[in-house]
Amino acid sequence: MKKRVLSGMRPTSKLHLGNFLGALENWKRFEGNDCFYMIADLHALTTEYNGRTDIKDTVLEVAVDYLAAGIDPDKVTLFVQSAVKEHVELGWILAMVTPIPWLERNPTYKEMVQSQPEKELNTFGFLGYPVLQAADILLYSADVVPVGDDQLPHIELTREIARRFNNIYGKVFKEPEAALTKTPRIPGTDGRKMSKSFNNAVFLADAPADISKKIRKMVTDPARKRREDKGHPEVCPVFTLHQRFSPKELARIEKECRSAEIGCTDCKEILTGHLTEFLKPIYEKRQELIQQKKRLYDILEAGNEKARAVASEMLGRVKEAVGI
Ligand code: TRP
Ligand code: SF4
Repeated sequence: MKKRVLSGMRPTSKLHLGNFLGALENWKRFEGNDCFYMIADLHALTTEYNGRTDIKDTVLEVAVDYLAAGIDPDKVTLFVQSAVKEHVELGWILAMVTPIPWLERNPTYKEMVQSQPEKELNTFGFLGYPVLQAADILLYSADVVPVGDDQLPHIELTREIARRFNNIYGKVFKEPEAALTKTPRIPGTDGRKMSKSFNNAVFLADAPADISKKIRKMVTDPARKRREDKGHPEVCPVFTLHQRFSPKELARIEKECRSAEIGCTDCKEILTGHLTEFLKPIYEKRQELIQQKKRLYDILEAGNEKARAVASEMLGRVKEAVGI
């Protein structure tokens, strides 16, 4: 039996290696199912409402990233959230049954409001972020939502909102399951989690020369101040990337780092080699796609059309249930 699968990413920037390993690879695994993958531009707007960012441009870049990473638009439905008005409409209806304390205790919410004071995230829209996400998921009766573990609280809230709605109005929604990615957290060049806001990311759009520059600047085990200092691969973000990209040389690198036989410069060069080899086909496909604007818009419009058909049918049932 084919499962209905739904997921999305916020177009706040072009996608990076962390997005690829943490999400897109997982999305591809579900390709034989009935997949809806969206570009969540309204969710991007909850934090990027600064009057300067043109989210439309990033939507197109992210579409290119999805396709270059091998998401096949003939096998899955790719669409843009704001092009399917039912998301906002269902979000508003779900807001009626969502108690505010459920939203206030959401860990992502508290963390983001505190960590980005310059953005003023103390808004109605940002507090309601998970309600809109619940609408995204419930509109398509998704069985499975492939996401990173940072999204688990949002999936749990979706289930709670669905349950509460069903208790009040009768069974309309299906409770979705999260499908977690097994990939470990991908470190950025500064050793923190890879994120565009930390300015530590390797982007799918980076040319090989840029990747090499970024890896050269990457932090390593702080104990290796001099060439002859022995290293501890387990604390080195370069080594974490080797674990994913240099499986054949891993044992040797680990040993030679511990004994200081290999220096960080050479070690990084090995990583650059494997990483550029891995990313080059994606980069080249990207270069090709970005020239084909008309084709990109056609793909998205066809996806929007398919998404609308499913979403409007569900919204009809919801409106009937709530009596409007
Ligand atoms: N909140 C998700 C993120 O930040 C993006 C998202 C929006 C999403 N709507 C969704 C993910 C629905 C899964 C399902 O990554
Ligand atoms: Fe990290 Fe490699 Fe340097 Fe060891 S040799 S500390 S693994 S960069």
